[in-house]
Amino acid sequence: MPERPYVIDQMISAKSIAARVEALAATITAHYAGTDKLVVVGLLRGSFVFIADLVREIALPVEVDFLEASSYGDAMHSSREVRIYGDAMHSSREVRILKDLRGEIAGRDVLVVEDIVDTGFTLSHVKRLLQSREPRRLEICALLDKPSRREVDIRATWTGFEIPDEFVVGYGIDFAQRNRNLPFIGKVRFT
Ligand code: IMP
Ligand code: MG
Repeated sequence: MPERPYVIDQMISAKSIAARVEALAATITAHYAGTDKLVVVGLLRGSFVFIADLVREIALPVEVDFLEASSYGDAMHSSREVRIYGDAMHSSREVRILKDLRGEIAGRDVLVVEDIVDTGFTLSHVKRLLQSREPRRLEICALLDKPSRREVDIRATWTGFEIPDEFVVGYGIDFAQRNRNLPFIGKVRFT
């Protein structure tokens, strides 16, 4: 596969991420204090590093489950990666559930963990789906938010960092499935 060469400029250090994760976890722990069990739902694949760090700082009984959604078809996927942002289908964007939760969430306390809220299509679809299962409480924690890209009116309950309209990688987040293992968050710059 031909690739455009790029470098990654650090945007958020591993140390800053760790400090922010600790603060988010403290807020989440206080919010759900007294819960019999918090179901933490990670949206695959980008949230896997974030959720791993976050749950280890949450001082509550926790269950972990995963859901995978795709907000573009396979054909869009590759063209999106080439152009980074494929805007062509926004108004008719289809969100598909590729992997559903294993457990029930009816009557439960639920926390959805997302890597990035970009246009908001994915999160609004996932939120509507999970709300229809009538959890007791449902909140959203997103590591990153790009408010300037928003097309659907949705906000996470808690956000790690607001960032400008840059394509970022690292800490679980990929560019064409690469760079998920970077310990920091960096922006992609083509050379
Ligand atoms: P949305 O439906 O447009 O909000 O899409 C959100 C999803 O797009 C995120 O969960 C990521 O998987 C992906 N995404 C958005 N921005 C970036 C980025 O800068 N780098 C990598 N993936 C991104
Ligand atoms: Mg994602």
